[in-house]
Amino acid sequence: MTSKDRLKSEIMQKVAEYYLIEHSDQEFFPGKSRVKYAGRVFDERDMNMMVASVLDFWLTAGPYAKQFELELGKFLGVSEIIPVNSGSSANLVAVTALCSRKRGEQRLVPGDEVIVPATSFPTTVAPLVQNRLTPVFVDCGIADYNLDINQVQAAISSRTRAIMFAHTLGNPADMDAIMQIVNEHNLILIEDVCDALGSTYDGRMLGTFGDIATLSFYPAHHITLGEGGAVFTRSHSLARIARSVRDWGRDCWCEYENPTDGKCGRRFEREIPGIAGYYDHRYYFTEIGYNLKLTDPQAALGLAQLEKLPDFIDVRKRNFMRLYSGLEQWQDYLTLPRWHKKSDPSWFAFPITVRQDAPFGRKEIIRYLEDNNIETRMLFAGNVLRQPGFSEIDCRIIGELPVSDHVMQSTFFVGVYPGLNNKQIDYMLDIFTSFMQASLR
Ligand SMILES: Cc1ncc(COP(=O)(O)O)c(C=O)c1O
Repeated sequence: MTSKDRLKSEIMQKVAEYYLIEHSDQEFFPGKSRVKYAGRVFDERDMNMMVASVLDFWLTAGPYAKQFELELGKFLGVSEIIPVNSGSSANLVAVTALCSRKRGEQRLVPGDEVIVPATSFPTTVAPLVQNRLTPVFVDCGIADYNLDINQVQAAISSRTRAIMFAHTLGNPADMDAIMQIVNEHNLILIEDVCDALGSTYDGRMLGTFGDIATLSFYPAHHITLGEGGAVFTRSHSLARIARSVRDWGRDCWCEYENPTDGKCGRRFEREIPGIAGYYDHRYYFTEIGYNLKLTDPQAALGLAQLEKLPDFIDVRKRNFMRLYSGLEQWQDYLTLPRWHKKSDPSWFAFPITVRQDAPFGRKEIIRYLEDNNIETRMLFAGNVLRQPGFSEIDCRIIGELPVSDHVMQSTFFVGVYPGLNNKQIDYMLDIFTSFMQASLR
């Protein structure tokens, strides 16, 4: 062993010790410990991977990022993975790539209509606005919170080119019905899988139905890189455009290796019309792009998280079912989530809607849960059109969106993430029971 290797091994050992002292064994004290809706779940391996990458000090996307692409691709069964710095960036890259000139007739152009549910995360809709596409808003279902298929049918016009939606809180949308519409009208499908990594429909991984899909690795999600996200697609040409959009818009595809003459072998031989001589391919821009790359320490963490992903998914499903069994008795007052018989959701969270005729409102139940140290969240933006930032966008709206308004008024969610175990789930159920008993007296 060289002195460098010995030092590294000592550092790793110390980091593992530090993890054990500082982060492991968080004992749960009912009523005192916070029952979070989500959070990072990690161990000494995650810390060691990140530290190893910091010791390498590559910093920008490098060897760990390349490995992360490969491993995530294996999990999803998709060859083209484009890591980015957030789920919002992933959505921006995906939509912008679909608007590229390089796609010729297939490209989305300003004014093209994209059907999207009004009950959305804001940055599922924002890239449509940013690319001057016209969102056409449809309502959602009350217990599955996914886009309403009948309204999608009603939304189709001669300008409709695409459908974009998130599988809400990990719950797969009805992919048979959606694919039928997509195929019938020759539409592009963009799946936001940010909340649904590992969910399947009819045995098939979400994100593999459409043309392009997105993931988020923010700490609330199924795996975390701190911040982070990814675009994935089966299309090599679309992936190449997406990488360019992510990497400043440049044409050069030398990502992790940089041979002197570039991977194209003609790095210094690019002709630019109107300019005498040749230009460097690294500075040859064929897209309006950004810099949305992730860093190598993030990717190193992602690799350790991916090792745990199958277990994380199992715990999410188990926690969900335990909550469901305990809450079933209150269904006269609370609408519990519903999922398609062909789907196997890798749940992000447990959504609940307070029924209109319940003798209490969302405000009362949330206050009670929060006072008892149980974290709650709203279903993201609710009806995104009620949000001030979206009040002046050019769009088309199908109907009055009553369900999206109801969601905004009456829906919330609690956690099922792998940081929770039976003790916390049972504590949550006890608190729900004491609230119901007091409210129904
Ligand atoms: C459905 C959905 N899409 C997109 C995003 C954006 O992801 P990020 O927070 O990584 O930007 C989120 C974030 O939670 C989300 O839930």
